[in-house]
Amino acid sequence: MINILILPGDGIGPEITKQVIKIIKSCIFLGLKCKLIYNYIGGISIEKFNIPISDKLLKICNYVDTIFLGCVGGYKWKNCYLKPEEGLLDIRKKLNFFLNIRPIKCPYKNIDFLILRELIGGIYFSKPKGLSKQIINSIPTWYSYNTEVYNEQEIIRIARIGFNLAKTRKQKLCSIDKSNVLDTSKLWRKVVTYIHKFYNEVKLSHLYIDFATIELIKKYNNFDIIITSNLFGDILSDHCSLLTGSLGTLPSISINNKSLSLFEPAHGSAPDIAGLNIANPIGSLLSIVLMLEFVFNCIKLSNKLYYSIYKVLSYGFCTIDMKNIIKNSKIISTNEFGDLVNHFLLLND
Ligand code: IPM
Ligand code: MN
Repeated sequence: MINILILPGDGIGPEITKQVIKIIKSCIFLGLKCKLIYNYIGGISIEKFNIPISDKLLKICNYVDTIFLGCVGGYKWKNCYLKPEEGLLDIRKKLNFFLNIRPIKCPYKNIDFLILRELIGGIYFSKPKGLSKQIINSIPTWYSYNTEVYNEQEIIRIARIGFNLAKTRKQKLCSIDKSNVLDTSKLWRKVVTYIHKFYNEVKLSHLYIDFATIELIKKYNNFDIIITSNLFGDILSDHCSLLTGSLGTLPSISINNKSLSLFEPAHGSAPDIAGLNIANPIGSLLSIVLMLEFVFNCIKLSNKLYYSIYKVLSYGFCTIDMKNIIKNSKIISTNEFGDLVNHFLLLND
């Protein structure tokens, strides 16, 4: 029996998670063996327990097999000194989810590459960091700072997974950095180039992050596996959603060294549309496609869910964010989208 921990989070999180639960329940009906456990993270956890992630939740994470997380954050906590995002960063860091894979895939546009984002290091977590006051030009002035640190081991583990994945795909790996300026990027490029010696069959290329933003849009077919740092991966994955049509369509999987996995859509909590039943649930549903394949090893069910999602789109049904991307689009709600996917999933064919 596989235990799935469900953390809907904030903003549009509960609405999209509702679709995920609907689909998992149908999968159970179709024979999947799993149990759902629910808990709180982010702003909702601040409201309930005064902390963005509770010790109890961290303990629960240690006995479940996999986690689905909606999204965290919102206007409500803007001036609160406890930040919902801390809950997400903590679950990643404390459970050692060092790698986040964000597939950029669109079957009808022939787009298919993976962004491998380092997830628990770099400028997101390095010290020193802070906010302080200093006299500058005789004026007391606030200043703040973050630092980026990467060590060889952190780069090696990402590079090795990247090269191994490339071997199973198109034998191409592109490492993205800013080594014309940053010392961390210089080390990153040196280490990746060194590890490449053990993977001769894979073609390695390097790009600077600024130019990569253009190449990824213009020549996306040249890419297969991309490896990059935490911050660059965060920005690039949002950027690449321009290719698939909407930020709402991107799934992700995070892994640690204990075979625990965390699935979450790549988008944020979109507080401006929260509760309106118009959010795109595709990023979340595709995260379940990945979960079915990599946690449950149910390739058939995973494929069926994948094609059910694209079948809905092929009939022109989509949420409002995709209205200009889908031909002859008919706008439907989050719930209706989930229902249609569910309908196709349960259809005998
Ligand atoms: C993401 C998000 C998070 C990040 C935020 C919500 C902390 O943007 O998963 O891409 O920056 O990693
Ligand atoms: Mn992001």
